[in-house]
Amino acid sequence: MLSPYVRQGMTVLEPGPGMGFFTLEIARLVGPSGRVVAVDMQPRMLASLKRRAAREGLLDRVETRVVSPDTMGLADLAGRVDLTWVFAVVHELPSVEKFVTEVAKASKPGAGLLIAEPMGHVKTADFEAQLQAAARAGFVLEARPTIRRSHAAFLRKV
Ligand SMILES: C[S@@+](CC[C@H](N)C(=O)[O-])C[C@H]1O[C@@H](n2cnc3c(N)ncnc32)[C@H](O)[C@@H]1O
Repeated sequence: MLSPYVRQGMTVLEPGPGMGFFTLEIARLVGPSGRVVAVDMQPRMLASLKRRAAREGLLDRVETRVVSPDTMGLADLAGRVDLTWVFAVVHELPSVEKFVTEVAKASKPGAGLLIAEPMGHVKTADFEAQLQAAARAGFVLEARPTIRRSHAAFLRKV
């Protein structure tokens, strides 16, 4: 799932990584010159993710940030992110509009945004509304990847 999108040296933003189901694989794919910035509002999730990253020797390229629910606090990353990987998170956020605006500010021109949402929890119309919010924030829909039991879209910042 990840290899078409993640390249060596990338800075990848992962909002809501939970315990890091994807994070460690992203960290392997970006290599020693890349990094993953994993932001979550649950400190316990990030603590577990950090322990696992340390065990796998990947902590040097995994940065964890505990954030408040209403902002990811990404000012220091403005224009630096190559890819945002957000899986099963957007429907939990208080404002999709604010979220995509923060991602857009953090993204380089041409950066990717992969959004996947669980079909069981998120109606097609609600997923399409998320994509419309992303379009208003400056992302163009590029592909609809097939991901099992998920709505999924890959967008690019213009
Ligand atoms: C369903 S889990 C998905 C975990 C992971 N992305 C995966 O697919 O395995 C949702 C995650 O989003 C985080 N989350 C929910 N709302 C958030 C918010 N407002 N800011 C930051 N993280 C949030 C939760 O703490 C949780 O870790």
